Amino acid sequence: MPGLTRETGYTEHPFDKKFGVRTSGLVAGRHLRSGHRHDRYATAYFGVAPSVFYALIKRWQRTRPIAPIEDFTFIDIGAGMGRAMLLASQLPFRSVRGVELNPTLLRIARRNLEHWRKSGQARAPIRLSAGDAAHFRFPDGPCLAFLFNPFGAPVMKRFVRHLAASFKDRPSQLDLLYVNYEQEHTIAVQRGMQRLFLGPVKRSYADTRADQRIMTNQPDGEYTSDDYEDCSIWRWLGACN
Ligand SMILES: C[S@@+](CC[C@H](N)C(=O)[O-])C[C@H]1O[C@@H](n2cnc3c(N)ncnc32)[C@H](O)[C@@H]1O
Repeated sequence: MPGLTRETGYTEHPFDKKFGVRTSGLVAGRHLRSGHRHDRYATAYFGVAPSVFYALIKRWQRTRPIAPIEDFTFIDIGAGMGRAMLLASQLPFRSVRGVELNPTLLRIARRNLEHWRKSGQARAPIRLSAGDAAHFRFPDGPCLAFLFNPFGAPVMKRFVRHLAASFKDRPSQLDLLYVNYEQEHTIAVQRGMQRLFLGPVKRSYADTRADQRIMTNQPDGEYTSDDYEDCSIWRWLGACN
């Protein structure tokens, strides 16, 4: 797949070197083909910066979630090669889930998860599902959905409607973290969703350098990265609100 070989700009992030996994690479949305009609709305594959991920989780914990982190299931919507799942599994979540549409990325993610479990890095049980995020079946109990700008407006709208239907009778059981919030307005117009945070979350110096090196090496130069990500945090209060 273009973006995953050295000839097509593949550049390793230090996270992979440190943990012996493969989550680096930048794959343009047009190369993410699975045969599903939602392929055309995929933005790109790119692993989240670990520093942004942890900073956003810290911010979320300051928003007074309905339950302690130990009661929450973390769910990566568009899990890619699984970097956010690996990071989440180092925290004391009840469990870590993910859903990914692309079969090549799924295969790589499953290898990473296997390595993670065997090397004793995972504190929580982890499970990755194949399929479209707009049909993901959410587990019981408090859920924390994580989105790193996975798809464009048509799928995002479907996904938000799916959230509202899935949590119809479960007020406050869903929190949502959104990194690089290009489709923020689709959440804002959904009745029952309350925004708790909107703003930049800083990348560490090491992540900024690593991600900029990856951007510099991409052959078509179409994606950019900065020393922060625009992020938001949302809570589902229920359809009556
Ligand atoms: C920017 S990557 C994020 C990867 C991962 N969440 C992370 O932070 O490391 C977005 C991912 O969403 C996936 N994706 C796009 N559309 C999807 C859909 N409809 N259902 C499930 N996954 C999808 C892409 O294949 C890609 O792997």
